[in-house]
Amino acid sequence: MSTRTDIVYLNGEFLPMEQAKLSPMDRGFLFGDGIYEVIPSYSGQLVGFNGHMQRMQEGLTAIGIDFSAISLNWFEMVKRLIEENGRGNLGIYVHVSRGADVKRFHAFPVNIQPTVFAFAFEIPPEPVADKTKAKQFSVQTEQDTRWRHCDIKSTSLLGNVMHFQHGQEAGVDETLLYNEQQELTEASACNVFVVKAKTVITPPLDKQLLPGITRHILLDILRKHSTLTVEERAISMNEVRSADEVWLTSSSKEIVPVTKIDALPVGDGQIGDIWQQAQALFTQYKYEY
Ligand code: PDD
Repeated sequence: MSTRTDIVYLNGEFLPMEQAKLSPMDRGFLFGDGIYEVIPSYSGQLVGFNGHMQRMQEGLTAIGIDFSAISLNWFEMVKRLIEENGRGNLGIYVHVSRGADVKRFHAFPVNIQPTVFAFAFEIPPEPVADKTKAKQFSVQTEQDTRWRHCDIKSTSLLGNVMHFQHGQEAGVDETLLYNEQQELTEASACNVFVVKAKTVITPPLDKQLLPGITRHILLDILRKHSTLTVEERAISMNEVRSADEVWLTSSSKEIVPVTKIDALPVGDGQIGDIWQQAQALFTQYKYEY
């Protein structure tokens, strides 16, 4: 079946992308005042739908948008978007902004309807746990210059966009970020894991990073189905640079091996065995989430 990605959802209607129109006074446009999610699906099967919806609800609550006031069956909406767009390998982008105001004023307006927008976009086929097929990522590193609410999946992404763009300009795939203590936070659009002596380590959840759904699913799978030691703790950039393996996780990529950091090899410079084990387990169990 061919994949088309031109039918979108906007405020109760399914319609072709070019017919979807928003007010320029929408606070999502003027202030980046909204929350978004990206949910992966393969041939109509969603991964982590409930976790994504729960995070969206928490994000909306954190910024004072009443989730319960939005009358929508989210699951039915997402399923229909997948059907309308050909059931391929699709990321579903879901976006809720505070809505369109009549003026530009920073304070939250009362009694406006949130804007709900969703569209489908093609993502790579399901990753396979095969070292010879996986793309190896090269990354650079930068001090994290974003705001102090990185736990909120805000549509205000300029900080992330700038870090990602610096990576593009440097000819690499992503940018790893570290705080003032030289500790790893995350990457511009992914969470980060490091492996040292068969221990899988990722930074703990706090306001410096997004509570990634892929991160959550992977930690849960590794704890339930592997004998690897798993730790959530602060990781110094020295540890990152001396790790045996480094991985990125995100909904559209699952687990990606990083083999170069700032032009230096990670470990022996090859994709690691633990990555292969982790990706195989993720592939096996991801649809349970
Ligand atoms: N990015 N950290 C940041 C800053 C992110 O933007 C993302 C996801 C993640 C991983 O979260 P999850 O596993 O829930 O996808 C971590 C999405 C895919 C994006 O902005 O396109």
